[in-house]
Amino acid sequence: MLNSAALQRSSWVVGNWKMNGGLSDNEALLSGLLGLLEDHAGGSVAQCAVAVPAPYLFQSMVRLSGHSVGWGSQDVSAETSGAFTGEFSVAMLQDFEAQFSIVGHSERRARHAETDAVVAAKAVALADAGLVPLICVGESIQVRDSGQAVESVCLQVRHVAQALHAKALLSHAVFAYEPIWAIGTGRSAAPEQAQEMHAAIRRTLSEINAQAAAQIRLLYGGSVKAATAAALAAQPDIDGALVGGASLEAKEFFEIACAMSGE
Ligand code: PGA
Repeated sequence: MLNSAALQRSSWVVGNWKMNGGLSDNEALLSGLLGLLEDHAGGSVAQCAVAVPAPYLFQSMVRLSGHSVGWGSQDVSAETSGAFTGEFSVAMLQDFEAQFSIVGHSERRARHAETDAVVAAKAVALADAGLVPLICVGESIQVRDSGQAVESVCLQVRHVAQALHAKALLSHAVFAYEPIWAIGTGRSAAPEQAQEMHAAIRRTLSEINAQAAAQIRLLYGGSVKAATAAALAAQPDIDGALVGGASLEAKEFFEIACAMSGE
């Protein structure tokens, strides 16, 4: 049963391309997706967006401007400018009219040693400029097996949420719960298992700001496929999906967005 707050949260389905694609592959994928959406015009479908590798932001802006699919990046620096070789700023994302950036993906936390403090600074920099920080949280299989999953994930949430709340920016945030053991493994969390975590995340947010907590979209990520998307979307605290592998196929991604439409 959806409560009134859940009804106000429109679903969002974001494709995380990771380090995949190329100019011609991207064109084929985006035109395929736009074509499917056009053919489906008037039908129910979740709001869609793609998180592209930064070199393709210009292509995304040119290809997607004026269409219903949004675009953003997979990471951003919390710094504004200067001697940060290889990084790019929120203002640079704004040059390409990006609407959001993923921050704190587990692949970046693990491979680039990003701490909760770094993730929080990036989220604040984005929200401060009016972009949506899509903040990823999640636990390893070891943490889940030890029974500490909820505690560990809620600690990650609290860290970033408090930093945003201190600047009155919490309502700008979107969180994605991505259990690390479900990413790229083909082993999605069960809908009830994901719901349990999403409810705990929302409780954590409501301890900081109850009004924002009711409005904030909580996406699930980790081996989402068209076949499993509807069961996930039926959970009251799942407001969309962050989709990796399946976002590289236009039809599969489109079908996930349809299944996540909430209707
Ligand atoms: P996956 O990736 O859908 O391929 O599991 C999700 C993610 O890492 O965002």
